[in-house]
Amino acid sequence: SKAEPLRIMISGAPASGKGTQCELITQKYDLVHVAAGDLLRAEIASGSENGKRARAYMDKGQLVPDEIVVMMVKERLLQPDSQEKGWLLDGYPRSSSQAIALKEFGFEPDLFILLDVPEEILVDRVVGRRLDPVTGKIYHLKYSPPETPEIAARLTQRFDDTEEKVKLRLHTHHQNVEAVLSLYEDITLKVDGSVTKDDVFAQIDGALAKLLEKKRATTESL
Ligand code: AP5
Repeated sequence: SKAEPLRIMISGAPASGKGTQCELITQKYDLVHVAAGDLLRAEIASGSENGKRARAYMDKGQLVPDEIVVMMVKERLLQPDSQEKGWLLDGYPRSSSQAIALKEFGFEPDLFILLDVPEEILVDRVVGRRLDPVTGKIYHLKYSPPETPEIAARLTQRFDDTEEKVKLRLHTHHQNVEAVLSLYEDITLKVDGSVTKDDVFAQIDGALAKLLEKKRATTESL
């Protein structure tokens, strides 16, 4: 029989590097990346009523209400690909009510990754961030510059990536972080997120490889 797929949560302050690490993790482990922020931005782009409501909260750096976010994440996790390959949940849960809802739907993580980055680095990361709308790849003007002038010319910036707005997002993060962390203490992997993205990934990769090995060993002994 096949080993159970990995189920991972990744959390951290705004611009701590969640999306960047998720690119590296999915490349190697082929998990389905479910990012609450990306689902919300797709909803905004669709022009729906929920998207319009969500945007008003995101503009203020506040949490979007549970009735929008919870269903969105739940539906994505229920898709066959997430069930088969396993999932990597990014930016969710951000409150205890979101964590409880997920558990009630039967989704429990094996590992909770926490990216630890000092505050003074975060603002610098946010204002230099750029996105490639064609590939979805995350860049930074200083730390991960685009590979070609062609890519550089098409890069875009997120509407909430200003110094003023990231301060609001940080404030919201501080209000909610403790409640969420306390729920996952026994499965938390705290990672130093202040080093280069490859060095951050090396820490995560080591833990995931071990976890996968443990799951395979458990399956074989059944
Ligand atoms: P979301 O989109 O999740 O934003 P966030 O949490 O603020 O996190 P970011 O996406 O800004 O950063 P990241 O950690 O992914 O960093 P990245 O890898 O890009 O949420 C946006 C909004 O949606 C929220 O404010 C809220 O309103 C709403 N929302 C989302 N989830 C919700 C939920 N569950 N409930 C309610 N509302 C919700 O890296 C940042 C930059 O740094 C990049 O330029 C990157 O190239 C660079 N970088 C990354 N790693 C390194 C490194 N090691 N060294 C140097 N540079 C690096």
